[in-house]
Amino acid sequence: MHLSPSYPIETERLLLRPLSPDDVDAAHAYMSRPEVTAYTPYEPRSREEVAARFADPKFTRTTLDAEGQFVFLGIVVKETGQLVGDALLAWHSELHRSGEVGYQLHPDHWGRGYATEAAREMLRLGFEDLGLRRIVARIDEDNPGSAAVLRRLGMRQEAVLVENEWFKGRWSTEVIFAMLDREWRDLSGGA
Ligand SMILES: CC(C)(COP(=O)(O)OP(=O)(O)OC[C@H]1O[C@@H](n2cnc3c(N)ncnc32)[C@H](O)[C@@H]1OP(=O)(O)O)[C@@H](O)C(=O)NCCC(=O)NCCS
Repeated sequence: MHLSPSYPIETERLLLRPLSPDDVDAAHAYMSRPEVTAYTPYEPRSREEVAARFADPKFTRTTLDAEGQFVFLGIVVKETGQLVGDALLAWHSELHRSGEVGYQLHPDHWGRGYATEAAREMLRLGFEDLGLRRIVARIDEDNPGSAAVLRRLGMRQEAVLVENEWFKGRWSTEVIFAMLDREWRDLSGGA
């Protein structure tokens, strides 16, 4: 199994591409926002923290060749060239052919379907190009905007883990969504 896309990946309105140190300011503009990090496992990041992340080859890799790796791609609006968020495809297991998607957007760009469009492409990369069989997304139950993205993608809500994590000063209930490759094929009309 191997993933080696040609970048930028083009969708209807977006370009997805690996992030680089040149993106630090645009990424800091959303990674520093409390409304963006409220349901993610990190606090708002300083510019230095964002820069350190982008200097780490783990976060700027362009291909996947072993389980445990992930591609973390910037979401760029084609029309303006602006970086407005990022989307992740993580490869968890080669044996189980399993992975996970995630995404975050600058709040100025919520409400336009960009997260759904980017995450749909991450599912396509995972199922069609890498050959995954099962992809999950894990969210906090207090994040209905993210649940709506996953439902729009056609992912099934599979599990509710009640108060399973101490998260930012409270017990968080985690909701797991999933999709199988055959469900992806049915939804995307593929062979
Ligand atoms: C989760 C998050 C990405 C959702 O953002 P979002 O803007 O609601 O999601 P989308 O970009 O897919 O946009 C969907 C909205 O745009 C609307 N929309 C407008 N044009 C659209 C189009 N062409 N296609 C799809 N939806 C469109 C939809 O109706 C929907 O609005 P609604 O929720 O009022 O019905 C955003 O809240 C976020 O970044 N949160 C912080 C990070 C986070 O929590 N990430 C998830 C952690 S697992």
